[in-house]
Amino acid sequence: MAAERALEMVADILKCRDDFPVLQTKMHGKPLAFLDSGASAQKPQAVIDVMNNVYEGGYSNIHRGLYEISQNLTADYEAVRSKVAEFIGAPSEKNIVFTGNATEGINLVARSWGRTFLQKGDEIILTEMEHHANIVPWQMLRDEIGVVIKTILFDERGALDLEAFERLLTHKTRLVSFVHISNALGTVNPARKIIEIAKDFYPDMRVLVDGSQGVVHNAVNMVDLDADFYVFTGHKLYGPSGIGVLYGKEELLNAMPPYKGGGDMIERVSFEETTYKDAPYKFEAGTPPIVEVIGLGTAIDYVSAIGMENIAVHEAALLVYGTEKLREIDGLTIHGAAPEKAGILSFTIDGTHPSDIGMILDQCGVAIRAGHHCCMPLMDKLNLDATVRASLGLYSNKNDIDQLVEGLHKVKEMFK
Ligand code: ALA
Repeated sequence: MAAERALEMVADILKCRDDFPVLQTKMHGKPLAFLDSGASAQKPQAVIDVMNNVYEGGYSNIHRGLYEISQNLTADYEAVRSKVAEFIGAPSEKNIVFTGNATEGINLVARSWGRTFLQKGDEIILTEMEHHANIVPWQMLRDEIGVVIKTILFDERGALDLEAFERLLTHKTRLVSFVHISNALGTVNPARKIIEIAKDFYPDMRVLVDGSQGVVHNAVNMVDLDADFYVFTGHKLYGPSGIGVLYGKEELLNAMPPYKGGGDMIERVSFEETTYKDAPYKFEAGTPPIVEVIGLGTAIDYVSAIGMENIAVHEAALLVYGTEKLREIDGLTIHGAAPEKAGILSFTIDGTHPSDIGMILDQCGVAIRAGHHCCMPLMDKLNLDATVRASLGLYSNKNDIDQLVEGLHKVKEMFK
């Protein structure tokens, strides 16, 4: 089988399984087949260690202390900003704002850029496959200032209809905001092409890309992509939760006002007036997620050492293997068959609710997500209330898929 041969070629990557303590554990007495990395990925020992080490031997607040520990930790923290910039091919660390997660990045853009530069009647184009994080902030803005939201349709394979997108563009369109890789279907959207179309139509059109899955499954480069904003989160990239990144073009970040106020983002405060630091610092009010930033830096080192290209090849081979195996199961429908697809297998089985499947799989040691995956409009479009989703990570292997398939046969047996 071609998929098995491809998997053998990239088998080396699976040595990394030893780096993930949780993968050595069992669930309900069965080896843990962790297929929920799309929701949140497991952490390698190096990330766990670096965070513990900071707490044990070098913790303090940053940007505020004259003593050695604080100076060192401040330098380490700021070094991660440069590392993130390099990892996503951003021109400089000035493009990198640390946020709590991808959701906060989108909210920041909506509240800061949106409130400042959009007005009633301006149009925002989203896609029908967006995660709630890239819908709700724009609806809040719509309710506040009267912007209009339009959506790009996707076809039965889960691929965006780019001709329909072109028809949506008008002289009032100001922003296109879309997911790089769908967390529910696995579709890899043609981000470069979408941005090109938007900017050909109107060079000042702004484009935001939700890269929560985008940075995890493929290498990205902000200069090549030419997105104005790109957001992602640390916890899906094998780093800690509580830390996310907003990439923004420098001139845009400089023109945007802060969206929350507090310490560390100011130059000078008096009761009459406050002046702010330059971007990115003006967006980072309060004590930041210090240790989480350090953990993110190590996660980036970790995936970079393996190589994003190797991760992509490995996951692609496993996706083919998983797709073939699932297709052999009677009554199972895979949702999402776009020509470009990342390691996400969303499916339903006739006559069995995804929640029941999820509970039975749990007993078989298989961790998947069953539900709407925070994409209710996408589910409405598919006429479903939920799917089962198996999502792959760099450590996923054939055994995980085989254990999933075995569990699904049990499900079929119980519901026949
Ligand atoms: N966005 C996360 C998921 O896809 C939580 O499951």
